[in-house]
Amino acid sequence: MAHNSSTEDIERILIGPERLHEIVVDMAEKIDAYYENRGGRLLLLGILKGSVVFMGDLMKALSLPVEIDFMKVSSYGSGTSSGGAVNILLDLYRRDLPQTDILIVEDIIDSGRTLSYLVNYLTLKGARSVRTCTLLDKPDRREVPFNADWVGQEIPNEFVVGYGLDYDEKYRALPYVGILKPSVYSK
Ligand code: IMP
Ligand code: MG
Repeated sequence: MAHNSSTEDIERILIGPERLHEIVVDMAEKIDAYYENRGGRLLLLGILKGSVVFMGDLMKALSLPVEIDFMKVSSYGSGTSSGGAVNILLDLYRRDLPQTDILIVEDIIDSGRTLSYLVNYLTLKGARSVRTCTLLDKPDRREVPFNADWVGQEIPNEFVVGYGLDYDEKYRALPYVGILKPSVYSK
C-alpha cells in the first residue's frame, strides 16, 4: 500500500476525522432548521479550492434539497501570510438570483476580507439572501469585522492544513486538520 509521505510534515493533528464528522453533522442540522420552509432555492456556494472537502461532506449531511456552485477568489499568495485585495477569478452567473438563497461555504476565516467582500458583492448582485458558514475560524486574525452565521470550530492563530486546506497546494487530501511542522515553511 502506498505511503502518504505528506503526513510526515504534520506536527500534530488539531481536528481528527471523527470530530470533523461531528462538526459537519451538527452544522447541517442547524442549517436544515434555518432554511426549512423559507421557500427559495438554496444554493451552496463553495469558495475554491479550500472548501471542496467540507462542502462535499456538508451537502451529504443536509436533508434539504440544495443546488451547488463555486466561486474562486484570490486574497492569498502561495505562502502563509495574507494578501490585500480580493480578486474574483471565477464568478457566479445565475439568472434567478432574486429567488436564490445563497449559503457561502468557506474553509476558514482569517482576515475576514474574503467573506465580507463576497457577502457584499452577492447582495449587490441581487441574491434573495446571503448567509455564510465556515469550517474553521481564526477570530484573532481579523483585519475587517466579520462573523459567519455558522462556525464549525474556532482555532488559535496557527497555520493549518488538510481536509481541503493547503500549504502551497499540498496536504488538501489529508482526512484531518493538522498543524504543519515549522521545518516545512523554511524549506
Ligand atoms: P481571509 O480573506 O483572510 O479571511 O482568507 C481566508 C482564506 O485564506 C481561506 O479561504 C484560506 O484559503 C486562506 N487561509 C487562511 N488561513 C489558512 C490556514 O491556516 N491554512 C490554509 N489556508 C488558510
Ligand atoms: Mg485557500
